Amino acid sequence: MTRTAVKPETDVVEGVYLCTSLDLPDLFGDALANQPGVRLYRPDEVPDPSRIRFALVWKPADDAFNAYPNIELVQVIAAGVDGVLRNPSLPDRAVVTRVHDAEQATIMAGFAGWHVVWHHRYMGNYLEAQRSKTWDRTTIKTLRPPSEVTVGLLGYGLMGQAIARTVASMGFPVLTATRTEGESDAGVTRMSGADAVSRVAARSDILINILPLTDDTRDILNAELFAGMPKGAALIQLGRGPHLVEDDMLAALDSGQIGGASLDVFRQEPLPADHPFWSHPRIVITPHEASVTSPQAVADALMQSIRELDAGHRPTAAVDKSTGY
Ligand code: GLV
Repeated sequence: MTRTAVKPETDVVEGVYLCTSLDLPDLFGDALANQPGVRLYRPDEVPDPSRIRFALVWKPADDAFNAYPNIELVQVIAAGVDGVLRNPSLPDRAVVTRVHDAEQATIMAGFAGWHVVWHHRYMGNYLEAQRSKTWDRTTIKTLRPPSEVTVGLLGYGLMGQAIARTVASMGFPVLTATRTEGESDAGVTRMSGADAVSRVAARSDILINILPLTDDTRDILNAELFAGMPKGAALIQLGRGPHLVEDDMLAALDSGQIGGASLDVFRQEPLPADHPFWSHPRIVITPHEASVTSPQAVADALMQSIRELDAGHRPTAAVDKSTGY
């Protein structure tokens, strides 16, 4: 019988869950319980804050890191790290890592593809017709084939590339704005340069946003961008709430410049009950659930970063604090 080596107690790396909006121990505790050599605590259960070397976080409180003078690693449970990089108590010395999860990208790509079909096929009209038991085949008569419907994509990282492949495989030409020229998948055209975003938007019948939130991308979905898009174009907003200037969106929908929108992220989450988006007939709302990271992917990401740090390497999943992703 082989015996599993058990690390002595002194070798255990201790961490803390820091989050204001989700019960992280409930979500990730099981996946982390079996990881050798690490132990995570809720903040009120930490025996000695000076022994805490890492944090697993999502929307931590502004002063969340202050209690832990020796944090070296901050592992975010998601792909987006904007909420953590802006945290005033985040120590300079701490490396911030995020999740690069191919499965999360696949789930996101399916979701984006579903919304592309929703807007391409004007599915909202069918739902409305069903309510009044109306057999109305007029939409199908005006249907443009996918090859004539350009899908623009803002954001071409792991998730953007998965979306691009999925949407291109459905027959839509995909245009994406990237910082640099480079290879892309079949059916995907990259545009670069200072005005790439507006050039992509100008040709997008359906525009998908999956950008990280940085100072450069905040408010990027605004009246000027909408005005430059083909009339009646649709927006699929999967990035972060502050990318979208909400009043500009409402005005563009009301004028018909934008024909419909799918929104998964919002400036204020949960979206307040009195927000006009809720009852807008041409907006589809989902509660920041376009994709999810599996507990196992989070546990694997954390363990890999701890191993890399312990070996004296910068973790592969470390974000560049200057670019914000
Ligand atoms: C979800 O919002 C993520 O950033 O992965």
